[in-house]
Amino acid sequence: MKDITIHSIFGDYKVVFDEQLSSLSSFLEDSTVVFIIDEKVFKLYTQLFNTISPQRLILIKANERNKSYLSMVKIYEILTSFQAKRNLTLVGIGGGIIQDISGFIASTLYRGIKWIYCPTTLLAQSDSCIGAKTSLNFGKYKNLIGTFYPPERVLLSTKFLTTLSRKDFYSGMGEIVKLFLIDGENSLNYFKSQLSRNEIDLRNNIDELLMRSLLIKKRYIEEDEFDKGIRNILNFGHCIGHAIESVTNYAIPHGQAVTLGMIWANIISESSQMLSNEKKEMIYNTFLKNNHTISEKLISFDSGSIISAMKKDKKRVGDDLAIILLSENFKFNSKKDLKAEMITKTYDEFVSLL
Ligand SMILES: NC(=O)c1ccc[n+]([C@@H]2O[C@H](COP(=O)([O-])OP(=O)(O)OC[C@H]3O[C@@H](n4cnc5c(N)ncnc54)[C@H](O)[C@@H]3O)[C@@H](O)[C@H]2O)c1
Ligand SMILES: [Zn+2]
Repeated sequence: MKDITIHSIFGDYKVVFDEQLSSLSSFLEDSTVVFIIDEKVFKLYTQLFNTISPQRLILIKANERNKSYLSMVKIYEILTSFQAKRNLTLVGIGGGIIQDISGFIASTLYRGIKWIYCPTTLLAQSDSCIGAKTSLNFGKYKNLIGTFYPPERVLLSTKFLTTLSRKDFYSGMGEIVKLFLIDGENSLNYFKSQLSRNEIDLRNNIDELLMRSLLIKKRYIEEDEFDKGIRNILNFGHCIGHAIESVTNYAIPHGQAVTLGMIWANIISESSQMLSNEKKEMIYNTFLKNNHTISEKLISFDSGSIISAMKKDKKRVGDDLAIILLSENFKFNSKKDLKAEMITKTYDEFVSLL
């Protein structure tokens, strides 16, 4: 697969499709390189990492609790103990959580050290590995602290996907569906043909889907790297999705919460006369319904707690809520004045679909 170059104000960077991860070899024994690796990935792929000395290895359990501001202290302590300072290189290997942690640390330590990122989940390979956002949770709330800081290079091997759980595979598919919905009708025809393939086939031959997803995202982040306008559309499904993650205490993986967020947002679009019932049903049945694998047990929240969590959204201004809504012609509207009553009004229809 051809590399993808992302143009960035910080300097262009590449996504390199490196199935065997041969580009990692030059870092493994370099004393100025420190690795932050997802503990699970380290166990599954130990043979890849066995020449890294233990002092240069930080293993982290990938969960939202560890993506917190307070958990960073320990990592800064380890990194500042190295003789190498601004010439340190940090290599993050794992899913979106390890990306956010390693990216945040790399962007803040000594005002920025070199950072290489190797995504190991579908979500990170198809979406989060580009775009330069690093985020930490604060207390109960999602991604309230963060920076813009791209990696110097993304090293992508789809081999990692073979060990991903079903839950995490469909979490990744959630962000992919979002990207294709954003890209509209033409792209959706291709995507529909992909959805007719079975899961095993899809997992084993995912390169083109990944490439197309990244190319959709590339257009938005290059036009609006700092999320001041058009890029905001990529947040489709996230305003309610983040609220669902908070109120369920992160029991639901991110991409699954985004899928639920898209389902609920489309109900709101219909209720606001922006989307016909027919189109809403078509989108639900074709693209969203089979993509949420969450057991009902996890979905026990009321509309009031969703409203409170949505009030923590950093995109919000004033008293109302922020949301991205899809309209009939696959146009998106970034609405900053959604009334809280709309969440209450549409809650029953949303819950009836779960
Ligand atoms: N910075 C951004 O631009 C951005 C964009 C989207 C999402 N995110 C963040 O990313 C996070 C979600 O990312 P994620 O879904 O990749 O989650 P994750 O990093 O938590 O990984 C999900 C699970 O998969 C496991 N795992 C990782 N790689 C594996 C592999 N190859 N084989 C088997 N198991 C593996 C992890 O240990 C974890 O249990 C959220 O915190 C979200 O907010 C960030
Ligand atoms: Zn996301």
